[in-house]
Amino acid sequence: MNSKPDLLSPIQLGAQTLKNRVVMAPMTRLRAVNSIPTPLMAEYYAQRASAGLIITECTMVSPLSNGYMNCPGIYSSEQTEAWKQVTEAVHAQGGKIFLQIWHSGRVAHPALLGGELPVAPSAIAAVGDVHTSLGKVALETPRALETSEIPQIVDQFRQAATNAMAAGFDGVEVHGAFGYLVDQFLQDGANQRTDQYGGSIQNRARFLMEVINAVCGVWGGDRVGIKLSPSNTLHGMADSDPKALFSYVIDQLNLFKLAYVQLMEPGEHDLATRDVIQPVISTFSQFYRGLVMANGGYDQERGNQILASGQADLVSFGTLFISNPDLARRFAARAALNPPAVAGFYGQGDQNLEQGYTDYPVMV
Ligand SMILES: Cc1cc2nc3c(=O)[nH]c(=O)nc-3n(C[C@H](O)[C@H](O)[C@H](O)COP(=O)(O)O)c2cc1C
Repeated sequence: MNSKPDLLSPIQLGAQTLKNRVVMAPMTRLRAVNSIPTPLMAEYYAQRASAGLIITECTMVSPLSNGYMNCPGIYSSEQTEAWKQVTEAVHAQGGKIFLQIWHSGRVAHPALLGGELPVAPSAIAAVGDVHTSLGKVALETPRALETSEIPQIVDQFRQAATNAMAAGFDGVEVHGAFGYLVDQFLQDGANQRTDQYGGSIQNRARFLMEVINAVCGVWGGDRVGIKLSPSNTLHGMADSDPKALFSYVIDQLNLFKLAYVQLMEPGEHDLATRDVIQPVISTFSQFYRGLVMANGGYDQERGNQILASGQADLVSFGTLFISNPDLARRFAARAALNPPAVAGFYGQGDQNLEQGYTDYPVMV
């Protein structure tokens, strides 16, 4: 690390050099009609190639990992083939792109899963609703996974990582955040298992470690990242001792020499729900000896401050990247930013998919 890095300083991410430390955070945009990436998605990601690194929206590792209509997958050859247009378009613009691989676990509904019940560590329903072809419906109680089924899910992550390589990605990020399957195994509010995947912190971390181990077996640690959200309360997430849990998990991740660990700060919803750990970055970054990526509520000034403090090496931006395709160039020019319009965050079926997606103006 330079003595005084800022967002625009290059950085070595394993074997790859990133041109800056401005990362596009993973964001679900629901424009993959029938789970297949499209030319419009290639245009969207290529528009954002001035980021040092793009992390894609969460992407299904299997048909049963589907939490949302029109999110993409990476389990079929058709999906894998279709992702190539995205990686090629980003590379043609000089960008780098990791695929976020994901299993939604209990944040799903039979209407999204061909009638099957969602699976989870335990039969405990998540809090909230989900959009399905039946409209907005409450999340249902999932089916607890049999111990013997868990290796198959680890294998799905391995296969997704293999497919991501075939699709031309520069690496993958495991989605360990936001109350989806990996997070459900970690936190005891969702995991009440009595086998080797439940109980102690070590046991609850076992699924994550097996997934990371499998994915690193495909890519090597230095092309694998992970996102964690120790203070997220969305989907009814809670743990009896998040400080102990996440410091253990982050410390164990050192074994894999990952490309980075991305840590998300709580948002307004989390802070309003209960007294969560904040700031996440100063609480947990000390446990990771490799690169740490800060996320959640950053702008240029706060991003530069966290880099200068030495608590993070990269900063990822979510909503600012939705409305500013050329965010890194705007930071360099200290230019004004377009405000994001929430209405276009998620695609609605196959209607007006460009709106709020590829139509934000770039700087002239
Ligand atoms: C529309 C939208 C979709 C998102 N989808 C994902 C996702 O697929 N995977 C993920 O890890 N985080 C997702 N997030 C969270 C962002 O990656 C990020 O953590 C969050 O927006 C906070 O960063 P920000 O304050 O810079 O926006 C999403 C956020 C938004 C606004």
